[in-house]
Amino acid sequence: MQFSKNILITGGAGFIGSHVIRLFVNKYSSYRIVNFDKLTYAGNLENLKDVENASNYVFEKGDICSSDDVQRVFEKYKITDVIHLAAESHVDRSIEGPMDFVMTNVVGTVNLLQAAKSTWKDSNHVFHHVSTDEVFGSLGQEGLFEETTSYDPRSPYSASKASSDHFVRAFFHTYGLPVKMSNCSNNYGSHHFPEKLIPLVINNIVNKKPLPIYGKGDNIRDWLWVEDHARAIDVIFHNGEIGESYNVGGLNEWTNIDLVRHLCKILDQKLNRESGENEQLITFVKDRAGHDARYAIDASKLEKELGWKPSIQFEQGLEKTVDWYLENTEWVDKVTSGAYQTYYENMYK
Ligand code: NAD
Ligand code: TYD
Repeated sequence: MQFSKNILITGGAGFIGSHVIRLFVNKYSSYRIVNFDKLTYAGNLENLKDVENASNYVFEKGDICSSDDVQRVFEKYKITDVIHLAAESHVDRSIEGPMDFVMTNVVGTVNLLQAAKSTWKDSNHVFHHVSTDEVFGSLGQEGLFEETTSYDPRSPYSASKASSDHFVRAFFHTYGLPVKMSNCSNNYGSHHFPEKLIPLVINNIVNKKPLPIYGKGDNIRDWLWVEDHARAIDVIFHNGEIGESYNVGGLNEWTNIDLVRHLCKILDQKLNRESGENEQLITFVKDRAGHDARYAIDASKLEKELGWKPSIQFEQGLEKTVDWYLENTEWVDKVTSGAYQTYYENMYK
């Protein structure tokens, strides 16, 4: 079959990538979607069971740091566009070992940019780079991150993502590569690896394990439903301006402690436990080194120019997320066996 676009989606077996793949495979039957993923601890093809047999979907195992792997997939599928999500994504792991973040997030991104630059002969393509609001640093009590906010990354993770953003812009300005960029706030939803706050807390409540809160729990994050992020990537990829970046966020700020208390309440009810029982699991632990105080996104450019807005209230999305984890214990058991146990013991010893 002749496809109108051959889109390489990197990191498609991860949390956000799997939602983006699902949306594109189901919505655009004329596009061939090539999922290119190394399947690190965070990548899991189980996340894509429902689309794996679709005629417009194919999986290719590969490493974005290998120019041979990248070149091979560009040639094999005559790649016309890239949506780049592959990354090392967990701040705590970046504190323990920054080098993997430099390799995948910086070197891997430049490798992909090089392949696109050498393959594409006109501007009729899109290289969409998916990034984070963490590149802007840490906010005080007031203000929101705008697209024009200066970069001020503070963790090894955000420094590596900031560097990758700079390279994407450099390829636009220097070589005219047709790039688009998005910087999104914290996502939540199904298939989220339980090293991140929300799925970790849900899993620990279910197993009656301590709920580790870093510092006082007063750090603030702006949470967005992962499917709303996937919809934002869809509109930016199709309708965003070349060379522009777009902030994506939900105007939905929560302190960590309020969020965890809310999860405790939802799960008191769903697990038929006494009211307040789960809150007793809350345990304040040593703060994360360099812990950013507050993230909050101004997404008005995306809303005004491209007509995107979040589709779901946080409380409703959180309940759907909890239901997914309660209904998918096999998935949770699989991803939390083996290497996860070692990670967890080292991290929370
Ligand atoms: P994730 O850790 O769940 O998934 C990352 C995926 O990338 C995995 O499937 C992994 O196997 C793959 N991968 C890692 N290294 C690779 C390599 N060298 N070559 C090929 N594949 C590789 O991450 P996520 O939370 O889904 O985040 C996806 C993207 O979105 C990242 O770029 C991240 O920086 C960005 N982002 C995440 C959030 C969030 O809240 N999770 C928010 C904003 C932006
Ligand atoms: P996380 O989900 O790791 O995302 P990010 O660091 O990219 O924002 O963490 C969200 C917030 O929750 C962050 O302020 C750190 C905090 N946190 C805890 O208090 N305890 C935990 O066990 C984890 C994983 C995170």
